[in-house]
Amino acid sequence: WAKPFQVAIDGPAASGKSTTAKMVAQRLGFQYIDTGAFYRCITYEVLSREIDPTDPRNEEQISNIAEQAHIRLQTLFAAASGVSKDQDRILHSLPTTRVFLEEQDVSSQIRTEHVSQHVSAVAAIGGVRQAVLQKVRSIGAQDDARYVDGSPDSKSSTEGLVMDGRDIGTVVLPHADLKVFLVADSRVRAERRLLELIKSGATPAQEKLDIDAVQRDLERRDELDRTRKVSPLMKAKDAMELDTSGLTIETQVDVIVQEVYRRRKSAA
Ligand code: CDP
Ligand code: CDP
Repeated sequence: WAKPFQVAIDGPAASGKSTTAKMVAQRLGFQYIDTGAFYRCITYEVLSREIDPTDPRNEEQISNIAEQAHIRLQTLFAAASGVSKDQDRILHSLPTTRVFLEEQDVSSQIRTEHVSQHVSAVAAIGGVRQAVLQKVRSIGAQDDARYVDGSPDSKSSTEGLVMDGRDIGTVVLPHADLKVFLVADSRVRAERRLLELIKSGATPAQEKLDIDAVQRDLERRDELDRTRKVSPLMKAKDAMELDTSGLTIETQVDVIVQEVYRRRKSAA
């Protein structure tokens, strides 16, 4: 059968990658893989064992944890995927990804600020990147990643996949059919992330949330991701850059979906 159409979405923290990637996958009937969730699971496990990820002496131990971790993603897509002009409806039907670490649902635990603050240190370790690379490349073959209204629909997942992260277009899927690099102003990103944290309840009420602190954390994380030695955050030469600061989610999803149609047509 035809090779699945690969869409790679990269960009800095809270630029809109996962929201956009999920919506694109839903519109096209593609599989969705959130690679950041892998780094977050490993970080969650490292912190649970009270291991300091910034101490270079712990690199081997952390790499072993990464290798041994069993991580599974399950994305639930809404049945109706028509285009709506109503932003609320779009958000309401946003697919959700559940993340399992050793079959335990850790979806909210991996999104706390505590994990966010340490994830870039863990993701900078060569052994961790190697382990995640292996896991995400093999996950494409699993057919439990796509569900429509709760029932498995493995047929559609073979048509294509959307993967988001930091090194998808450069390292994980260097021959992707479409590469997108999302960017947005850091203040706008901080506002979005704050709203998200409040809405999801991922962060306990006692954890103080202020916009300046969230913005500082995003900028610090981007800096670590951009300057690390292995697979840094970087726009692939052949990536299409999209600034989402002033765009609606609907527009950014539409731009990408249209581009997929255009490339599929010209390849046919
Ligand atoms: O959602 P957000 O942009 O805050 O983060 P994420 O996509 O969940 O990724 C969390 C962290 O994992 C990033 O800050 C990177 O350090 C790391 N990451 C990576 O190094 N490579 C990827 N392909 C994906 C994530
Ligand atoms: O995956 P990444 O960290 O890049 O971003 P995300 O988790 O998708 O978070 C981006 C947040 O900004 C989400 O709450 C989106 O609803 C929101 N947003 C967006 O992505 N694009 C817009 N044009 C407006 C808001």
